[in-house]
Parts: sequence; structure tokens; C-alpha cells
Amino acid sequence: MNLQQNFDLASVTTFHIPARARYYASYSSVNELKRLLDMPELRSLPVMHMGGGSNLLFTRDYPGVVLHSDIRGINFHPDPQNDTVVYAVAAAGERWDSFVETACRAGYAGIENLSLIPGSVGAAAVQNIGAYGVELADRLHSVEVYDTFSAEVVELPRERLAYGYRQSLFKQPEVAGRYVVTAVTVRLSTLNDFHLDYGPLRELSGNPALSPADVRRRVIDIRRAKLPDPDVEGNAGSFFKNPVVDKAKFHSLLGEYPDMPYYILSDGDVKIPAGWLIEHAGMKGARVGGARVYQRQCLVIVNTGSAVGADVVALSRKVQEEVMRVFGLELHPEVIFI
Ligand code: EPU
Repeated sequence: MNLQQNFDLASVTTFHIPARARYYASYSSVNELKRLLDMPELRSLPVMHMGGGSNLLFTRDYPGVVLHSDIRGINFHPDPQNDTVVYAVAAAGERWDSFVETACRAGYAGIENLSLIPGSVGAAAVQNIGAYGVELADRLHSVEVYDTFSAEVVELPRERLAYGYRQSLFKQPEVAGRYVVTAVTVRLSTLNDFHLDYGPLRELSGNPALSPADVRRRVIDIRRAKLPDPDVEGNAGSFFKNPVVDKAKFHSLLGEYPDMPYYILSDGDVKIPAGWLIEHAGMKGARVGGARVYQRQCLVIVNTGSAVGADVVALSRKVQEEVMRVFGLELHPEVIFI
């Protein structure tokens, strides 16, 4: 728990864009978190909680305190009532992918499709990370939080967390800042019941010997081929959410663009891949200053090395304008602007 002043955030965010926080501290227990929140010099300042910094774009210096969870620990608890179920508990400060790797190594299925997603366990629960047909909310049992209103640690069951596509209770403006995630419990399975419906994972189905580690390996290969490594070219994964349109708009788009990929949702609405829209709006490789639309997956904006926050903001606006002009669709950032 060391409080640092005028802290450079470039090294703790995956965009690696320069910005400073007035104060920065990490904590490795709830007690340390409480002590930080009670420090007189910090009490009057805005506070933000940061996990792996993989979904944030600082557009200017932050005038408050950035707190980073370094609470560690991963444990497995077999369900006494059902011997095919295992509850896996990970502390908020664990790297999400270390949790997935540990679970897959132990032979438990459920989160292997979420391999290699950058960020921390705590942020994963806030963001409801998702990939290859699985969202964390599908596997989540409960989230342990520190409630800054009551100064107590409480367990929130999934039903209370208002999960949706990249959405959760923690992101609702009326609740924002109240809860700090301290641990996440997911429900895993000892049966190898995988979710392999998604495009390039389909080729794995029908193999009775398939293990969670095999699926993980394939997911890692797919992601490495398409997505830039933040340690090489700074980025925050998908910059935009995939827009959801109603049936009428979908049919009019499909009439015009018969090759457009899409996913039909359970309520009949249709999700259109923003990456495809951006590419077909002619923005593949577009640049502003040091920011560029990544060629292999246009949903990602990369920092080619010298980008500042304003470059990324300007490029993202340009992308939104072009997609609106060509397709009449509004793109909403998935990345959180600070
Ligand atoms: N596509 C293009 N051009 C592009 C990008 C995509 O034509 O530049 C097409 C692809 O060919 C494919 C379709 O669009 O037919 C979908 O692409 P992809 O499978 O890469 O998935 P996505 O919808 O673009 C979402 C998530 C990703 C996640 C993948 C895989 C969102 C915002 N993004 O992307 O999540 O890894 O599915 O499940 O939902 C992230 O959130 O950071 C992230 C990387």
C-alpha cells in the first residue's frame, strides 16, 4: 500500500497513453483499502478503481485518486450436493487470464472461451466480459464487494447484478463508485460440456476427449491471430460495442449488404459486428496522429506508439461519423473515457 503522487498511468493501462493521476495506490486486502479510503488527504478527492486498465482511455490527467486492487488468491470448492459442480473463487486483483488458466489446468470447464481477455478478475465482473458465445454472467455465481456506504463486505448474487451485454449493476450511474469488487465466484463443471457454436470453435466439436485446456489453446490461437498484443501496440480490445438493431433495420441492411455477418438475439433483435461496419465504411487502417484502426480487426483502435488521448478520441469520432453516414447506425464505445 504505497501512495504515489503525480503517477504516470501509461504503464498501468493497456492503451499506454500518457496521463497522470494526482494519487495512485494499490492495496492487497480490504483493510488496506479501508485505510486508503480514510486517509485525510484523499477523502475530499474523486476516487476511481482500476483493474488491469484494459478498458480505459484517459483523455486528460486525473485530478483524484486511482486505486488498484492487488488482492490475490484462487480457490476451488466442490459443491457438496452435486459432484459435477465446482465453485471457483478468485480475488479481484488476480489477472483474469491467470484464473482461466488455473481453472482449465485443474480440468474445470466453463470459462475456457474467455481465455486471454486482458484485465483483472474484478474488472471482468464489472464489464461482463464476453467472447465466443460466452459471457462471464453466464457462469457467475456471486460477487463479493466492499460496500463503501456501509463499510462492510457483502456477497451479491448474480440475480442482483443486472447483467447484460457489457453491462452490470456496477456501471449504473446511481451505483457507480459504491461497490468495490473484492472477489468473484464462478460455477464450473467437471463435465466437459463446452460451448463451441461460435465460428472457428465449431471444428472442435464432436471430439469426446476434448479438455478445457484444449479449448483454451484454440481460443488463444484465434485471439492471437486477430487481436493486437497490448504490450506491442497499446489498445483496449474492442473499442466499440456491437450495435443491436430491430428486425426492420436488419432486413433493410441485409437487403443492401447480403454478406453482412450478424447474430440473432433471443428477443429477435439482431447484433451486427461493429468491426465489419467499420471496415465497410472504409475506415480500416484510418489514422489520427498516433492512433490507428487496427487492420486485422477494425473494432480495435491501437496506439502506434505516440498516440495521445485526443488522437484516440478524434479517431473514434471519425469512425462513428462514417458508420453513421454509410449505415445509419450509431456506435457506442465499450471503452470508458475518463
Ligand atoms: N469482421 C470484419 N471486419 C473486421 C472485424 C470483424 O469483417 O474488421 C467480421 C468478422 O469476419 C466476423 C464478424 O465481423 O464475421 C465478427 O468478428 P469477430 O468474431 O472478431 O467478433 P466481434 O463481434 O468483432 C466480439 C467481441 C470481442 C470478442 C469476439 C469473439 C464485442 C464488442 N467484441 O467481437 O471482444 O473477442 O466477439 O467472441 O462484443 C473485447 O470486448 O475487447 C473483445 C475483443
